[in-house]
Amino acid sequence: MGRIILATNRTSIHGQWSSRWAFILAATGSAVGLGNIWKFPYITGENGGGAFVLLYLFCVALIGIPVMMAEVLIGRYGRQSPINTMRSLSKEMGRSPAWSLLGWMGVLAGFIILSYYSVIAGWGIAYIFRTASGTFDGATADGVTSIFGALVGDPEKLLAWHTLFIVMTTIVVARGVKGGLEKAVKILMPGLFLLLVVLLGYSISTPGFSKGVSFLFSVDFSKITSAGVLTAMGHAFFTLSLGMGAIMVYGSYLPQNASIAKTSIIISLMDTVVALLAGLVIFPIVFSNGLEPGSGPGLIFQTLPIAFGQMPGGALFGTLFFILLVFAAWTSAISLIEPAVAYLVENKGYSRVYAAVSVSIAIWFLGIATVLSFSTWAEFKPMLDKTLFDLFDGLTANIMLPLGGLLISIYVGWVMHNKAVEEELALSASSYKLWLFIIRYISPPAIILVFLHAFEII
Ligand code: TRP
Repeated sequence: MGRIILATNRTSIHGQWSSRWAFILAATGSAVGLGNIWKFPYITGENGGGAFVLLYLFCVALIGIPVMMAEVLIGRYGRQSPINTMRSLSKEMGRSPAWSLLGWMGVLAGFIILSYYSVIAGWGIAYIFRTASGTFDGATADGVTSIFGALVGDPEKLLAWHTLFIVMTTIVVARGVKGGLEKAVKILMPGLFLLLVVLLGYSISTPGFSKGVSFLFSVDFSKITSAGVLTAMGHAFFTLSLGMGAIMVYGSYLPQNASIAKTSIIISLMDTVVALLAGLVIFPIVFSNGLEPGSGPGLIFQTLPIAFGQMPGGALFGTLFFILLVFAAWTSAISLIEPAVAYLVENKGYSRVYAAVSVSIAIWFLGIATVLSFSTWAEFKPMLDKTLFDLFDGLTANIMLPLGGLLISIYVGWVMHNKAVEEELALSASSYKLWLFIIRYISPPAIILVFLHAFEII
C-alpha cells in the first residue's frame, strides 16, 4: 500500500528478541534500576514529597507512555542503531537527514549518564560487602551516616568499584545484549520485587510509617518549585529510559507482530510500581529515625542499613537487596551504551567486543569526575552552585532526555508519514486517534511549557 519500503521486510543485523516477552523483560530491565530505588526516593525527599510524586506520575502517564510508544515504533520501523535509523527513515520519507543528530544527542546523553550511574552502582557493590560482613548490625542513624561519608570520601575505593561495574557492563554488551539478559531479568525482577515487599513489612512495623506514607502521598503544591516540576518531568524520562535511544535500539530488535502499545504500558506500570514501593520502604525509615528526607543522593544508603541492622535476618536480606540492586543497575547500564555500540558496529565495521571496550573506556574516564565530586572536587561547582555529579545528572535527565522526547514526539507526530506510523502501531482506530492527539498536541507543548517555566521565561 502506501509504504515506500516494506519495513516488515527489514531485519536488524544485530538479531531479534526471541519473543514479545523477551523485549518486555529487557526493556523492564533497562527501566527498573537505580532510578527507581536510589534516585526516586532522594529527589522526592528533596522536592517535598506528595506534590512531586503526583507530578511525576502525571508525566509518566501523559508524556512517558506515549513517548515510549513513539520511540519503540521508530526503532522497530528503522531496525538500526538510533543514529542510522533516524538518518535512513528521514531520507526515505523525504525529510532532512539532520534528524540523525537526535541519535547523536542520545549517544552523548548515554555516555554522561553511564559515567555517573556506574559510580553510584559502585556504592551498591560496596554495600553488598558491608552488609554481608555485619557492619550494620544494631546500627544507628549516626553510625550509618558516618559509614556512608567514609565511603564517598574515599576516591580510591569509589574508583575501584566504578571500574568493576564498567567492566561488568562491557562484558555483557560485548557478548550481545540478547544472550543472558532475558533469563537474568526473569529471575532478578521478581526477586527485587519480593525483597522490597519484605522490606515494606519492616517499614510498616516502624513508628514513622504513617508519616512516611503521608509524605509520599499528601499533595501540597506550595512545596513545589519550578525546578521541582522540571525534575519530576526529567525523572519520568530517566526512569523509563526514554529520550536517548535506549528504548529505540531495543525496539529495533522487537518482532514485528508484537503490540507496541501493550508492551509500553506493561513496562511503564512495572517501573512505576517498583519506584512507589521503594518510596514506601524508605520514608518510614527516614521519619522513624529522625533523618532528613532531603539529605540527597546518599538517602537510601543512610536509611536502608538501619533497617538491615535492626530487622531479624537483616544481614541476609540486606546482602540480597544490594546484590539485586546492583543487578538492576547492570541491566539498565547495558542499555545506556547499546546505541553507541550498535552504531560503531554498523558504520565502522568494529566487532561488538572492540566497540564495547572503546566506548566503555571513554565512559570510565568521564566517571572519574563523578568519583571526585564527592571528595576532592566537592567544592568545585562550575555552574549553578552544583558539583560535577549534579551537573551531569541535571543536564542529562532534566534537559537532554526531555529534549530528546520532544523531538521524538515531533518526529512521529509531524514528520513521519502518518500511514507508516499507523501501520506500525496497529491500534484500533479510536486508540490510534487518542495517541496521535497526545503525541501531537499534549506531550510537545507540555515539555516546552515545563522548560520555559523552569528557565523562568514564563
Ligand atoms: N531507567 C534506568 C533507571 O531508572 C536508567 C537508564 C537506563 C536510562 N537506560 C537509560 C535513563 C536511558 C535514561 C535513558 O535506573
